[in-house]
Amino acid sequence: MIRVGVIGCGVVASYGHLPAIQDTPGLRIESLMDVDVARLIEMQTRFGVDKIFTDLDLFFQSGIDLVVIASPAPVHFDHVQAAARYKKPVLCEKPLAMNEQQAGEMIRAMHQAGLPLYVGFTYRFSPVALEIHRLVRENRIGQVRSLRLCYVWDCHGKYNDRDPTKGLYLRRHERMLEGGPMVDCGVHQIDLARWWTGSEIIRVTGLGAWVEMEGYDAPDHIYLHADHENGCHTQVEISFTYGHTSKDPRCEFWYELIGTEGLIRYNRQQRIFECVSSEGTEKREWTEEKNFHGMYRELEQTLRTGRSGNMPSGSDGLTATRLARLATESAVAWRKQDASI
Ligand SMILES: NC(=O)c1ccc[n+]([C@@H]2O[C@H](COP(=O)([O-])OP(=O)(O)OC[C@H]3O[C@@H](n4cnc5c(N)ncnc54)[C@H](O)[C@@H]3O)[C@@H](O)[C@H]2O)c1
Repeated sequence: MIRVGVIGCGVVASYGHLPAIQDTPGLRIESLMDVDVARLIEMQTRFGVDKIFTDLDLFFQSGIDLVVIASPAPVHFDHVQAAARYKKPVLCEKPLAMNEQQAGEMIRAMHQAGLPLYVGFTYRFSPVALEIHRLVRENRIGQVRSLRLCYVWDCHGKYNDRDPTKGLYLRRHERMLEGGPMVDCGVHQIDLARWWTGSEIIRVTGLGAWVEMEGYDAPDHIYLHADHENGCHTQVEISFTYGHTSKDPRCEFWYELIGTEGLIRYNRQQRIFECVSSEGTEKREWTEEKNFHGMYRELEQTLRTGRSGNMPSGSDGLTATRLARLATESAVAWRKQDASI
């Protein structure tokens, strides 16, 4: 049995990590750590965990075999460094770090300690993403030449409870300060593009819209364009201002892969997942995009067998974050230039 310790008992831990660890044969939630005592007690009660800590050193000495880092991005660096010192393998949430230097140091520290560092790109493990990976490998749409990946939403809205009288919704505000939608959400799409095509991105740029007009450096609606080594092109569109002040939330999420001999189309709102080729249209089973349970099944197997399978590495995390930041910086730089064509 692998005894798991979780740092950060916030939103993603409560709906994603903790239920999935609890349900995965071979894994057990051993200890929880957070700076917020009320949150710790709430998660301890809900998941029946014995040991809770506000002290990081005591947490690491509590008999754990694996640490899951689900704290906010600015403290991932300290938590991975501590895991390396205490010789614990890590699954760290995205974005891996606040900058490339930190991400590099985190990867080096874990490597020098001889330990694996995985990144929580949970979208890889949805049945849809795995199926797309397989269809691409089987050349079902010929050579993939273009990817259109879109997630426009409001990051739960600008205001608490979507009510302007209740003040700014701080989670969304903090995500905007940490780099905006491409760094927060787009890293998943960038990771999928690299993983599906099996081809590195060699050029990247970004353009953005500041729907809010002011308040943040990063654009709140951004387009990334990337060229892969094999000649394929990826476009990622991500927004945090798609109806962010409206009473009723709206969003659009799709994947489209355009190949020399067909298309793969996935659409959340229309519940479409299909492969379109000269043989006709194959309808596939539609599922949601995230899969924490699938990620933990793979992680357990990886740790047990030593085969890394589809687990995203620290280097995958660094690369996706680097590309997301480059696209965001490029959009900011374009905004500052006089636009004369
Ligand atoms: N993979 C995904 O699909 C996904 C989804 C949401 C969030 N995330 C990522 O997960 C991370 C956490 O996001 P969240 O939405 O749960 O945030 P959150 O703010 O809801 O939760 C973070 C928790 O960490 C705790 N914390 C803060 N500082 C700490 C410290 N120094 N030591 C220990 N605990 C500390 C907070 O008290 C809080 O309980 C972020 O990196 C975010 O980008 C990933």
